[in-house]
Amino acid sequence: MHQWITHAPEETMHFSERLAVFLKPGDVLTLSGDLGAGKTVFTKGLAKGLGIQEMVNSPTFTIVKEYQSGRLPLYHMDVYRISDEEDIGLEDYFDQDGVTVIEWAENIPSWLPDDRLSITIERVNERERTITCKASGSRSKHINEEISNDERASD
Ligand SMILES: Nc1ncnc2c1ncn2[C@@H]1O[C@H](COP(=O)(O)OP(=O)(O)OP(=O)(O)O)[C@@H](O)[C@H]1O
Ligand SMILES: [Mg+2]
Repeated sequence: MHQWITHAPEETMHFSERLAVFLKPGDVLTLSGDLGAGKTVFTKGLAKGLGIQEMVNSPTFTIVKEYQSGRLPLYHMDVYRISDEEDIGLEDYFDQDGVTVIEWAENIPSWLPDDRLSITIERVNERERTITCKASGSRSKHINEEISNDERASD
């Protein structure tokens, strides 16, 4: 488990922008944290790091949005309104050639792949957040090591 502290939305974006460098097709990142913690801000940085040009917004009503203009496709999911009992076919994305990032992934535990990087964002105060990354498989462990060894991640 690794932890970072950010002091502004730009710092959270900077961190996820760096993380994007290490991602490969089929990688899955889950984002947990209260309303307004910074999950969408994190995803915006990730998209930037993948070279995605489009504006990234929360897909709360569409559940999943795909962005194709970057180094890898990005599948951005928000399952705030979904429960674990529903089968909405999200797992079909996990083995495609893009990167999946899931806001509120704790709502759908049975649908998540075993190997995933679980990211928790906690609000400390108005502008401060802790970002915790926990790996649960060989691929996510590798990503976690790379971002931890990346000196530019906490610039
Ligand atoms: N260090 C920080 N990192 C990220 N966001 C921050 C930080 N400090 C302040 N903020 C603010 O917190 C808010 C985070 O909003 P965001 O939409 O990313 O939250 P969210 O976790 O996606 O919420 P939701 O569950 O509603 O989707 C933004 O208004 C952002 O400007
Ligand atoms: Mg959001």
